[in-house]
Amino acid sequence: MHSSKVEAALNKQINEELQSAYNYLAMAAAADAQGLPGFSNWFKMQYQEELIHADKIFNFVLERDGKIELQSIAQPEIKDVTPLGLFENALAHERHISNCIFELKDLARSESDHATDVFLEWFVSEQVEEEANARTVIDQLNMVEGNRNGLFLIDRELAGRKLEEETA
Ligand code: FEO
Repeated sequence: MHSSKVEAALNKQINEELQSAYNYLAMAAAADAQGLPGFSNWFKMQYQEELIHADKIFNFVLERDGKIELQSIAQPEIKDVTPLGLFENALAHERHISNCIFELKDLARSESDHATDVFLEWFVSEQVEEEANARTVIDQLNMVEGNRNGLFLIDRELAGRKLEEETA
């Protein structure tokens, strides 16, 4: 059993992951609307990863006989729909999620909830990868500085992203 504080925080994290999924789905649509199917694919894969993250926490709460309280998901707000703007938004969002995971882990420790503390290790490593993935594309976009040929090549590369088996 979780403490009520940990249970509430895990439920909040399910919401954060579902909100992330919804944000990435909006980004996939924004990229597609600009004729960038590869960028759209990347965001769509990320959307699916976020659903998997939410599902992992959902299953963990239930496995420990906890209660699920699903919360509202807000309409995504995307201010800058340029390829660089979308990825900067993604990176900022992933940094926010990393902080959520760290705070959740700190809470689990302060509540002596060892099972949750260990469970969250996977998310800590995953966040390192999530931030690095977004940063890699930002670096590439900065390198081509809006050049259309460069953008075409990046789009083609991003079209190849698939769901990672170890994540799924
Ligand atoms: Fe589930 Fe991208 O954090």
